[in-house]
Amino acid sequence: MNERIKPYLLETEPYYRPAGREIELFEAAYARRMPMILKGPTGCGKTRFIEHMAWRLRKPLITVACNEDLTSSDLVGRFLLDANGTVWHDGPLTTAVRFGAICYLDEVVEARADTTVVIHPLADDRRTLPLDRRGELVRAHPDFHLVMSYNPGYQSSAKDLKVSTKQRFGALDFHYPHAEIEVEIVMRESGVDRETASRLVGIARQSRELRGRGIEEGISTRMVVHAGGLIAHGIDPHASCRIAMTRPISDDEDVLHALDGFVEAHFGP
Ligand SMILES: Nc1ncnc2c1ncn2[C@@H]1O[C@H](COP(=O)(O)OP(=O)(O)O)[C@@H](O)[C@H]1O
Ligand SMILES: [Mg+2]
Repeated sequence: MNERIKPYLLETEPYYRPAGREIELFEAAYARRMPMILKGPTGCGKTRFIEHMAWRLRKPLITVACNEDLTSSDLVGRFLLDANGTVWHDGPLTTAVRFGAICYLDEVVEARADTTVVIHPLADDRRTLPLDRRGELVRAHPDFHLVMSYNPGYQSSAKDLKVSTKQRFGALDFHYPHAEIEVEIVMRESGVDRETASRLVGIARQSRELRGRGIEEGISTRMVVHAGGLIAHGIDPHASCRIAMTRPISDDEDVLHALDGFVEAHFGP
């Protein structure tokens, strides 16, 4: 393996609790080098899943957090001035393509469409990346794999993936886990006991039913883990739930009142 990508290898196994066949299906997609989209709400385990898969496959993982300021040069690379003149520097995508890493474009719809088109020739049979500024066509290393995450929840149509992009990818659906599995995850990730984890998960599940009625998305697994972490640290449950679960997701008095009601129903007044 090339020295440039060795630092991106995961040394220890990231804990991931599967909900269904996603590990087997992703392995098959990887074997075919089928580009993949991980779909699902924020904080439901997509990033943890790709970290786990990279570890399982023993492949380096290069993650790019996408945002609207991300340019195609940020992905592919640019000429920079140094003592010897201008020198080309590969961007994270080019590094993954050249040397054979998994490239994970996190929250890809946040990037502008003109940025994401650079992935098109990589996501079909060509498996190439044209570096126009440099006049180079990079052929993807056999181990290169392209994966992106995408939250279909709060996309307006202006902020959706192009059909021509979507059609190049396979997709795996992610959801908040079933109650028993989520309890297991929260115990493991935060260190609280089963009883406490069950109460926290109960609150989160009730909040998710408010989706579309005052909140965009309910309390995520990530937030439940954070609340559990505060409780494990010695903070009382009510304050932990306020800080980590209820206050971050809404500013609306009525919604907050309803959420506080869920907390009291599970932890007492
Ligand atoms: N299936 C799972 N197995 C292990 N941990 C999980 C799982 N789902 C969620 N988590 C926990 O929730 C947190 C947030 O998940 P993450 O993968 O960052 O969400 P996403 O990328 O979907 O926004 C993780 O750090 C982990 O603690
Ligand atoms: Mg993520």
